[in-house]
Amino acid sequence: MNAKGMTMDPVLRAALDAVTDASGAGLAAAGRVESAMLDGGVATVVLTAPPDRAPDLDALKPKIEKALKKQKSIRKVRVVMTADRPAPAAAPRQPQPKAQAQAPKAARHVIAVAAGKGGVGKSAVAANLAVALARKGLTAGVLDADIYGPSIPRLFGVTDAKGLRKTGAGIEPLQAHGVKIVSMGFLLKPGQAAVWRGPMVQGAIRQFLNETDWGGADVLVIDMPPGTGDAQLAIAQAGGVDGAVIVCTPQDLALDDARKAMAMFEQTHVPLLGLIENMSVFVCPHCGGESEIFGRGGARAEAEALGLPFLGEIPLHIDLRRRSDEGRPVALDDGPLAQAFARAADQMLAAAETARKPAPEIRFE
Ligand SMILES: Nc1ncnc2c1ncn2[C@@H]1O[C@H](COP(=O)(O)OP(=O)(O)OP(=O)(O)O)[C@@H](O)[C@H]1O
Ligand SMILES: [Mg+2]
Repeated sequence: MNAKGMTMDPVLRAALDAVTDASGAGLAAAGRVESAMLDGGVATVVLTAPPDRAPDLDALKPKIEKALKKQKSIRKVRVVMTADRPAPAAAPRQPQPKAQAQAPKAARHVIAVAAGKGGVGKSAVAANLAVALARKGLTAGVLDADIYGPSIPRLFGVTDAKGLRKTGAGIEPLQAHGVKIVSMGFLLKPGQAAVWRGPMVQGAIRQFLNETDWGGADVLVIDMPPGTGDAQLAIAQAGGVDGAVIVCTPQDLALDDARKAMAMFEQTHVPLLGLIENMSVFVCPHCGGESEIFGRGGARAEAEALGLPFLGEIPLHIDLRRRSDEGRPVALDDGPLAQAFARAADQMLAAAETARKPAPEIRFE
């Protein structure tokens, strides 16, 4: 077990222990490793230290990369240094930096919508869930955590924003279709790409989460980028996130990727709230006939096997694609697609409420 009580891949553990810190202890043994995972030959290692020890960790980075790359099973190494938590064991405990420790929760429920794979409909689902929540009379927000490929501006039809304002209360979100939205897309010129290193991405997400004036929102939905990288780590480390909803399509490959995303959240202690199956059945726009192009029910079966709530099925329908491109989410309507999102939003809220409740305490008199 590592410092956080997780089982660490033995190959990673051995390689990390081959690198010693200033005290001469192996990194894993010294409790310097916040998390370490190996996925498809890519090793992601997160190290933490109090701010005054951060330079020590920076010096260790090349050594870690060299030690890990010696392993046949490791093709690429990503080392993420965080200096915003007290080191777990060996180092003397330091107070947490103020912004991190005292940041109030951004909303009553903060829910990340994620998937391992790109293009499964995370953004479309996140946007429509938020609209469905707003239509129920809740104050809803969307944080676009896809810094490199933000989709939220287009999905909400806000493609001509002139930046984001910061007032005394914090970053002022824009408002569209009754939802508060914040996106990197509002800070970039059309066609411009954010060329940032990982720690900058993490910083931007933390700022969007903790420094935006979400105005006491009921629910904040976070649209996650694909994969298991910097944004996922930022969300895990920022704290104040109720949990993650995993979007997957019924194909086996997408489910495999979904499993990787779930493993990542579990390793970083972000609870899984449930699974949503997107593109579960194709509804023909001409005859209304249904075809199960990618199969159906895979996510429900997976959720059952994992003991997680199944939050609903969203059909594959051209209206959803068309309306997403037009910037008018289909959840604004009253048709079957809007109803599917309304049901999924209810299920998601119920799962978030359940996740908040502490496990019942059994007392023996
Ligand atoms: N159920 C659906 N029916 C029809 N089109 C859909 C459906 N879900 C998503 N789409 C469309 O599929 C495309 C990809 O969706 P989206 O951008 O939401 O995926 P994503 O997982 O967020 O992608 P990325 O990984 O790039 O962030 C978009 O054009 C979207 O409108
Ligand atoms: Mg997206």
